[in-house]
Amino acid sequence: MRVLTVIGNRPQFVKAAAVSRRLQEVATEVLVHTGQHYDDEMSAVFFDELGVPRPTHELQLGTGSNTEQTARMLSAIAPLIAAERPDVVLVYGDTNSTLAGGLAAAQAGVPVAHVEAGMRSFDRSMPEELNRVLTDHLSTLLLCSSAAPTEHLAAERVVGTVEVVGDVMVDVALLVQPRAREDDGPLRSAEVTPGEYVLVTAHRAGNVDDPERLRRLVDLLLGLPCPAVLPLHPRTGARLDAQGWLDELLGAEHVSITPPLGYLAFTALLTRARAMLTDSGGVQKEAYLAGVPCITLRDTTEWTETVDAGWNVLVDLDAPAAYAALERTPPTERPMLYGDGRAGERVVDALVRAFGD
Ligand code: UD1
Ligand code: UDP
Repeated sequence: MRVLTVIGNRPQFVKAAAVSRRLQEVATEVLVHTGQHYDDEMSAVFFDELGVPRPTHELQLGTGSNTEQTARMLSAIAPLIAAERPDVVLVYGDTNSTLAGGLAAAQAGVPVAHVEAGMRSFDRSMPEELNRVLTDHLSTLLLCSSAAPTEHLAAERVVGTVEVVGDVMVDVALLVQPRAREDDGPLRSAEVTPGEYVLVTAHRAGNVDDPERLRRLVDLLLGLPCPAVLPLHPRTGARLDAQGWLDELLGAEHVSITPPLGYLAFTALLTRARAMLTDSGGVQKEAYLAGVPCITLRDTTEWTETVDAGWNVLVDLDAPAAYAALERTPPTERPMLYGDGRAGERVVDALVRAFGD
């Protein structure tokens, strides 16, 4: 079996860490990195720390509007698919790299396998929602993290085969979190004490591209009643800088701003945080697994099970609601969601069953 995998940004490197090495034991994997994320701290560090195999092709396509970026990726991926002649193209999640890989394959008549299929926020103003819906409808094999997404796919009458395999990010988190919990280095560097600080990430276009919403985010962070560590996503850094608001945050004594962190340092900070404040998708799951209450800076989430379990609260950019959520005591129960840490194995098995010789 010959698999061409398209990855391009930070969460996809983490997801590939659960699949690629195992896949390469039983199949030929042509790993394509679109270059959507390109800084070492957004890309290379994940390959190094998590043992993701080196890409076969690095397209270095960089940034642009969603449309430009996707179009450039399509033009670059199509000839690779023609040259490499894979049995299947594998894509993860919901980014522009996901849609470009899926669409280029489908247009070439090559089957698509989509990992993290069926997730929905039901908010079509998010570029990710368009990418997810379109990729699911292009896919032959739809591999889901839990049961809820299979219901979305059934309601949308997708044509491919749907299977629940668990969540590949959970595989990586379950491996790394116990080790990271013992690593005090990142807490010392940020000068924070276990249980007393919040870890914050924000990068969603809907939160940082609109100056009015970005200002609400800044005010929310400035008003936090406890220390905060903020590893700054490059999109957010650029938008804050453009508005002249970065210095305000840098000057706030309780906020420690760092560059984007590697997975190990980030996980070390996550596991000992009082709470996680985030608009990330992946981080909501990782906080749940670490037993850290999550306060989500959005009004929708795809990871509804974490909200239903009482460990995640959606506050959008409402500062009083975020501060109130900080005072909540988390539930005592934390059921296993999104699988048992063996999703990567199941992804490989499903690929072999569907596309193996
Ligand atoms: C993308 C995904 C988003 C995902 C996120 C993960 C889409 C539509 N969005 O958003 O779903 O949650 O990745 O982090 O695919 N930049 C750098 N260095 C880098 C990468 C980006 O400086 O290595 C800057 C560029 O100025 C760029 C901006 O960040 O304009 C945004 O990057 P881009 O990949 O377009 O979108 P993300 O916000 O990262
Ligand atoms: N992450 C990291 N360092 C950081 C911020 C996030 O290693 O400074 C990891 C995080 O643990 C998770 C992934 O990056 O595995 C999530 O990526 P991101 O939030 O950029 O994307 P999303 O999940 O929202 O698509």
